Amino acid sequence: QVDDAEVMVFSVPSYACQRRTTPDDNNSLLTDALSLLAENAELCDQEGRGVAFRRAAAVLKALPKPVTCMTQLRGLPCLGGHSLRVIKEILDNGASSEVESMKHCERYKARKVLTGVFGVGAKTADRWIREGIHTLHQLRDSGHSLNRTQKAGVEHYDDLNQPVSKAEADAVEEIVAKAVVSVLPGAQITLTGGFRRGKLTGHDVDFLITHPEEGREEGLMSKVVSWLESHGFLLYQKTTRNSYLESKDGPARIASNMDRFERCFSIFKLAKEVKRETKQPEIQRETGLQNTVEGPCSVGDHTHIQVDDSILQTDHTSQSQIHADEQRSCEDGGLKPAGHKPWRAVRVDLVVSPFSQFAFALLGWTGSKLFERDLRRWAGQEKAMSLNSHALYDNTQKRYLKATSEEEIFAHLGLEFIPPSERNA
Ligand code: CTP
Ligand code: MN
Ligand code: MN
Ligand code: MN
Repeated sequence: QVDDAEVMVFSVPSYACQRRTTPDDNNSLLTDALSLLAENAELCDQEGRGVAFRRAAAVLKALPKPVTCMTQLRGLPCLGGHSLRVIKEILDNGASSEVESMKHCERYKARKVLTGVFGVGAKTADRWIREGIHTLHQLRDSGHSLNRTQKAGVEHYDDLNQPVSKAEADAVEEIVAKAVVSVLPGAQITLTGGFRRGKLTGHDVDFLITHPEEGREEGLMSKVVSWLESHGFLLYQKTTRNSYLESKDGPARIASNMDRFERCFSIFKLAKEVKRETKQPEIQRETGLQNTVEGPCSVGDHTHIQVDDSILQTDHTSQSQIHADEQRSCEDGGLKPAGHKPWRAVRVDLVVSPFSQFAFALLGWTGSKLFERDLRRWAGQEKAMSLNSHALYDNTQKRYLKATSEEEIFAHLGLEFIPPSERNA
């Protein structure tokens, strides 16, 4: 028996862009389950179901306290029948039978392994699965020809499936900053994506590049990429030129969610920490602030799968542990044993924006994806405006609304400003 009067009932606005969502999560048991269902729906190419589970997870993530009973959820937005069933089962039994059986489902595991390859999406993975391909070994043996992106994805599979730490993101930032000022003094880079939102790890590192004098940013990406390539920092890159000016339908009416900035999807070769001393205190390693060697690229590496000589010298990694890690890394799907290489592969996204569009690009590339989705939905449904990473168009006044900061964009949209660290919906 629950006395309603004593139950803390939560209240949450329905658009993610109206809420403050910090990186921490008081309901991770529930949100992990719903995120897994979302992921599975996305892997099955069911975007609508995926978004529904993402929305449900995001509402729970925004709650100030752990949920203890269903009564507390009364009146909360975005919680559909399916999500509520899953939540109830977890509150009652500690786990969801649907989620648990999904985790052990062969098809799910195969989808995860195959879409874990950079350059492989849900459709390609499913086509392979129908041919009986469930692992990277089977993919290699199948003789399928892979495109350049997928080849890089297979080659660096283990590294790219290892979360990027903040220390590694900082090391990448130093490299990109050096490249950018070398090819165009006065150009500016800004860390975007999850790390700008204060996340401690990410699947990649995202940057926005601009120059305060409009027009100076033209042609910048190819110069940055050349610099990075000639200095040996790139394992892979694919650059797409700016197609914004060519769009006939006007900037605010771009049909797809994709923006048209010049961009580069890349894989960096990031040097691991190189040690000068034989021993280093654990605490110092963990801060990522250890002494680094010459050059901007060294970084503390305290993951356990990449084993290099520097870790061999410390006393907390034994030979048997290394062997076990290699085994596991292979079982996880990697084709190669964990390398004894002194570097690791890291996914990096670079975007170049003209200065006049910088605020929109920054807002659009900071995320989270659900926060962005709801910003655009809010603009359209509540304000009759069209927002994308280039501009904000007022459909009633039939004019573009200029902005030089994120704060101004929120103000145009009639929203309270939410800082990046609270956009983790
Ligand atoms: N983005 C985009 N167009 C793309 C890819 C990404 O506009 N083709 C935007 C997304 O909307 C998101 C931001 O770029 O807001 C960062 O995307 P991503 O790196 O995928 O996600 P993160 O939030 O950084 O999460 P993670 O830590 O996993 O990288
Ligand atoms: Mn359902
Ligand atoms: Mn990112
Ligand atoms: Mn990214």
